[in-house]
Amino acid sequence: MENESRSIETRVEGQVGFITLNRPKVLNAINRQMLSSIVREMEEFDRDDNVKVIVLHGNGRAFAAGADIDEMMNDDSIDLELLNQFVEWDRLAWVKKPIIGAVQGFALGGGFELALCCDILLASEDAEFGFPEVDLGVMPGAGGTVRLTKLVGRATAMRWLLTGERFTAKEALDSGVVSKLVPSDLLLEETEKFASIIANKPSLSIRFIKESVHKAEDTSIYEAMQFERKNFSLLFSSEDQKEGMNAFKEKRKPHFKGQ
Ligand code: HXC
Repeated sequence: MENESRSIETRVEGQVGFITLNRPKVLNAINRQMLSSIVREMEEFDRDDNVKVIVLHGNGRAFAAGADIDEMMNDDSIDLELLNQFVEWDRLAWVKKPIIGAVQGFALGGGFELALCCDILLASEDAEFGFPEVDLGVMPGAGGTVRLTKLVGRATAMRWLLTGERFTAKEALDSGVVSKLVPSDLLLEETEKFASIIANKPSLSIRFIKESVHKAEDTSIYEAMQFERKNFSLLFSSEDQKEGMNAFKEKRKPHFKGQ
């Protein structure tokens, strides 16, 4: 069995925690042990005061080409039901710090679903996305039909999900799946710069903005507005609010403490 510590790697640079998917020989196909490791490291970074932003990316020529087909091909429905594997995927939604996905090469099937668990995606110009599950006689199971539909609407989601066709980084940008395209050789560098910008913002604001955006996706406008205004009020108990507004009045740069 593959050594658990090698299917992903982690490092901290500045205030950014990196998680690297590291099964390049199989295009970072995600097996269950790997997914558990990703979730565990995400939660670890979420508790680590030195880390403000998390970056998820893949080693080699893919972000991830899907869930590991070798691992699941002989499963039956009861195995899968008892395994309850998606409960681990759900935990990614509880990570409070922003997660930036940096996608190079393929982001397919479960790999695309993992990318869609990130708060924001940067992609290299050669990235390719898609849900090829239909050609395997299955369908997405880790939120693909749900998150993609919410992001791009029914017309585009149906097209990509029903045909299984791959689409380009440019199409992903145009349809709102990714936020920014970067030349391939600069992806990590640009992602790090982007992450550092967010890492230097007041972290309570970042935390509540993330929560509020997620709430807006999931609930009615009325409920989301109530949630937003509670978070807005809460920030007025923070030192960073005092510092931010005083710095503005004093015409100087703010020094945020994350409190
Ligand atoms: C297991 C995989 C894999 C996967 C690639 N590999 N994707 N192994 N699971 N999802 C392996 C190949 O078998 C091969 O191993 C090696 O990685 C390199 O891949 P090639 O196919 O030789 O590369 P290439 O010709 O460049 O084609 C790249 C590719 C193709 C187009 C991405 O690999 C591909 O179609 N992969 C499967 C994509 C897919 O169907 N994903 C959805 C999976 S289902 P060897 O040993 O031959 O060198 C899914 C459901 C999620 O994700 C459900 C929720 C968790």
